[in-house]
Amino acid sequence: MAGVTKTIAVLKGDGIGPEVTSAAIQILEDCAKSFEHKFEFREFAFGGAAIDQFGDPLPDDTLAGCRASDAILLGAIGGPKWDSLPLGKRPEAGLLKIRKELGLYINLRPIRLRPALRGISPLRRERIADCDFEIIRELAGDIYFGAHELHGTGAKAYARDVAEYSVAEIERIARYAFGRAESRNRRLASVDKANVLATSSLWRQTVSRVAADFPSVTVEHLYVDNAAMQLLLKPAQFDVILTGNMFGDILSDEAAALAGSIGLIPSMSRGRDGFPALYEPIHGSAPSLAGKDIACPLGSIFSAVLMLRESFGLELEAQWIEAAIDHVLDHGFRTIDISEPSARNLTASEFTGHIRAELHDALVHSERYGWGV
Ligand code: IPM
Ligand code: MG
Repeated sequence: MAGVTKTIAVLKGDGIGPEVTSAAIQILEDCAKSFEHKFEFREFAFGGAAIDQFGDPLPDDTLAGCRASDAILLGAIGGPKWDSLPLGKRPEAGLLKIRKELGLYINLRPIRLRPALRGISPLRRERIADCDFEIIRELAGDIYFGAHELHGTGAKAYARDVAEYSVAEIERIARYAFGRAESRNRRLASVDKANVLATSSLWRQTVSRVAADFPSVTVEHLYVDNAAMQLLLKPAQFDVILTGNMFGDILSDEAAALAGSIGLIPSMSRGRDGFPALYEPIHGSAPSLAGKDIACPLGSIFSAVLMLRESFGLELEAQWIEAAIDHVLDHGFRTIDISEPSARNLTASEFTGHIRAELHDALVHSERYGWGV
């Protein structure tokens, strides 16, 4: 296949964002070099760093740069420095705004246990089994995007947040999720709170209606409290989990813990076909780890892998990187946040260095690894 040329907007953000993103960029650069692709990285200010520099977590230039790119790689945002700002002015507001502005209503979070990391899952071996599922979280609606009000002060203060969903919003995410399920194991679990919430009741009706168009997919509806429990009891029962914005936020952190660490899980946020998708690890900016060269870069590296696969159609390259990571993990190499007693602990940059060496080795000994390159 001829090499591709792509522009990638890079929003490193705050805390460990810059370090994990730099690791992912190194891997993408190795990929470009080895497979004759051309990736151009354009960096833009975002989050707390952008508040400090421009007084705005999502400056116009950043948004324009993202719109003009083929894909966006984001690190993480937020930190104690900006925690006292009012809600709409915080780094998180920039994240919600970029999702809205770019029409990113689909959020895909693959939860896949790496075999070498079975030991760091909090679940016993037989319980975690071969956990490999996808959470599809609606990302542009729900209580995160309704009105947020906080009135008064002291004992008289009160607050309200409004949750809203329309049929169209539910239908488009449901169609995407059913499509994913069709290409996987054809099981879809839709999660809501239809025994209490009107938005959930509409959600359930709409998902049931859309299901008729995907007869090969088996659908099940779970209340969110039960879903949280089922994830711990028997994660291997899930194939595709479809849910709204808030439930997806919460369940994806729980699911990440099952796979060993939130530091391992990537995500893709996308909208309509042909528009740039955004890739980011699901972890936060982890201020206590920042600047120490210890934070696991895998969430960001797997986000880059997801970009290669989903936005650029580079499946071979994606597999090449995943195999290198699995080799490094098989050898017992770890950063301390994903360590276990028998592991060989490395700094984050040494860890990335080992992955890069494996990538190189796999090409040099391509026949040994079965790479036809
Ligand atoms: C996530 C994060 C964000 C969210 C925050 C930082 C606004 O938790 O991507 O899961 O809630 O969506
Ligand atoms: Mg979250």
